[in-house]
Amino acid sequence: MKGWFGRGKKLPAGDSDLRENIPNHIAIIMDGNGRWATRRGMPRIAGHRAGMNKVREVIRACDELGVRYLTLYAFSTENWKRPRAEVDYLMRLPEEFFRTEINELVERGVQVRFIGDVTQLPTYTRETVTQTQRLTADNSGMVVTFALNYGGRAEVLQAIRHYAGQVEAGMTTWEELTEESLARYLSTFPAPDPDLIIRTSGEQRLSNFLVWQSVYSELWFTEVLWPDFTNTTLYEAIRDYQRRKRRFGGLK
Ligand code: FPP
Repeated sequence: MKGWFGRGKKLPAGDSDLRENIPNHIAIIMDGNGRWATRRGMPRIAGHRAGMNKVREVIRACDELGVRYLTLYAFSTENWKRPRAEVDYLMRLPEEFFRTEINELVERGVQVRFIGDVTQLPTYTRETVTQTQRLTADNSGMVVTFALNYGGRAEVLQAIRHYAGQVEAGMTTWEELTEESLARYLSTFPAPDPDLIIRTSGEQRLSNFLVWQSVYSELWFTEVLWPDFTNTTLYEAIRDYQRRKRRFGGLK
């Protein structure tokens, strides 16, 4: 488990203070690709390409910090409303990304997971999902989850339906339904809830991301557009997180 044991080792001297209390699970809403491109007089898809390159960098940075779980919102159930050409481009990105990154991800011991309704994705995207999960399934390092065609409310609904099916099949009962037992049917299970959720581009909302899992997450917003996100931005978010007092509704 290379990344895990290398926790914080590669931090530049000036950033070594970060080693204490690294969030176990960071989730990111990668927003602002379109605006980044438009401001440069480029087509929106150029922003998504630049955004994809930042995915590579943030995985490396989190692995080197010793973050155990990284969850990235890559495509929401609402993103289908975009122009066809943009959706097609976004659907091609996983294929390209994992073709070039798979060796490094395996070398780092990263386990890649996907959440969201993959059955609705084009065949080539689905094949990438299946293949990437298979190639990294036995890795025991950082878990990187891509939310693809993901919606938090749909996920909760699916968990309830699944639970009801189990009740009907006599596998469990409604009396045994608790927050903990339902959470086992969420697509993120067994990952812990995110400690820190970052959203770029100045928007301050969760947009149907990890609806159930985010109730006690620390939220951090930045004006930085996703293609401009750097390690410095990540360190800034983590420092802010480290200064916060998490009481989970209690007194300390
Ligand atoms: C939101 O920006 C971003 C997206 C809808 C796509 C995010 C996808 C990536 C960063 C690449 C994913 C990479 C892989 C490997 C799957 P926006 O287009 O809504 O920006 P805007 O608000 O400025 O228009």
